[in-house]
Amino acid sequence: MLDELNRVEKVGLDALQAVQDEAALEAWRVTHLGRNSGLMQVFSRFGELSKEEKPVVGKRANEVKKALEDAYGTKAEQMRQVALKRSLEQEQLDVTLPGRSLPLGRLHPDTQTLRELYHVFGEMGFQVFRSREVESDEYNFQLLNFQIGHPARDMQDTYFVEVEGRGDNPIILRTHTSPGQIHAMRWISAMNPDNPAPVRIVLPGMCYRYEQVTKRHETQFEQLEGLAVGPGITFSDLKGTLADFARRMFGQNTRTRFRASYFPFTEPSAEYDVECFICSGAGCAVCKGSGWLEIGGCGMVHPVVLLNGGYDPERYSGFAFGLGPQRMAMLRHRIEDIRYFFQNDLRFLEQF
Ligand code: DAH
Repeated sequence: MLDELNRVEKVGLDALQAVQDEAALEAWRVTHLGRNSGLMQVFSRFGELSKEEKPVVGKRANEVKKALEDAYGTKAEQMRQVALKRSLEQEQLDVTLPGRSLPLGRLHPDTQTLRELYHVFGEMGFQVFRSREVESDEYNFQLLNFQIGHPARDMQDTYFVEVEGRGDNPIILRTHTSPGQIHAMRWISAMNPDNPAPVRIVLPGMCYRYEQVTKRHETQFEQLEGLAVGPGITFSDLKGTLADFARRMFGQNTRTRFRASYFPFTEPSAEYDVECFICSGAGCAVCKGSGWLEIGGCGMVHPVVLLNGGYDPERYSGFAFGLGPQRMAMLRHRIEDIRYFFQNDLRFLEQF
């Protein structure tokens, strides 16, 4: 049996030399240390031995078992080291490489412009008032002094939502933010009809017109309306407010110009220009050589509109203006096509 143990030991250790991978190592363990291994068979035949032989063979058997187990452990450890070294070599990590940048969201240029406008007007004492995009003809036109069949309606080709059974008051998509003037005035004056509180608000939002889509015209676009109503408000207040706005928005030295115009809901009415902030009035491609940029329309709120809003035109007056935030952004960043705003092309959006 001692010979058998010597043979088991030698065969086992020799076989271990040839083991190269983990599967082979596991197979070796089963063959040489497992329940059916030569070693275990020696143990199982222990009963056949005499009293004198038992301690001798037992001691040797334990030695062989320990030798095989130690060899197995050493081999396993060696293989772990080799595998680790190989994986470190293969998966070399260069800590000096620049990190992978995560794509970062950003605000749409419309949102950025609008927030800037809220901020500027906020500092001047205006609050933001939002109103609906789906309107009635009454609010979008009639209450703003565009009677049915009024020629000024032709400037605002309209999307109709519901015509059937609505007579002269179809449901439409608002063509401008001006109907918000009536909603706001009615809402504020309803709280105290005899002595309605003054109004100083800006009304932002999307407007819709049935337009031929071009570089300059979209079927939807942003407007920012302004409205101030109170006792004794004059055209000077309007000019002062818009002149101040231009300086805050476009730069300390920006000059402002007003040209007579017409809107049904204001009287008198004006176009509002600011000195070109690209060339400072010298004349360039953006202002087409004129030195001025058209920014919006404005005027003194028409008495009929005040009345429709619940403000007695004998006691109150007001001014209003309508600005094009996208037009401002286009002039500022020299964006040549208004369609870029809605195409969701990241190459465009990531520039802002
Ligand atoms: N609502 C006008 C439009 O979309 C713009 C406008 C002009 C608004 C003059 C005003 C204003 O409040 O006073 O064409």
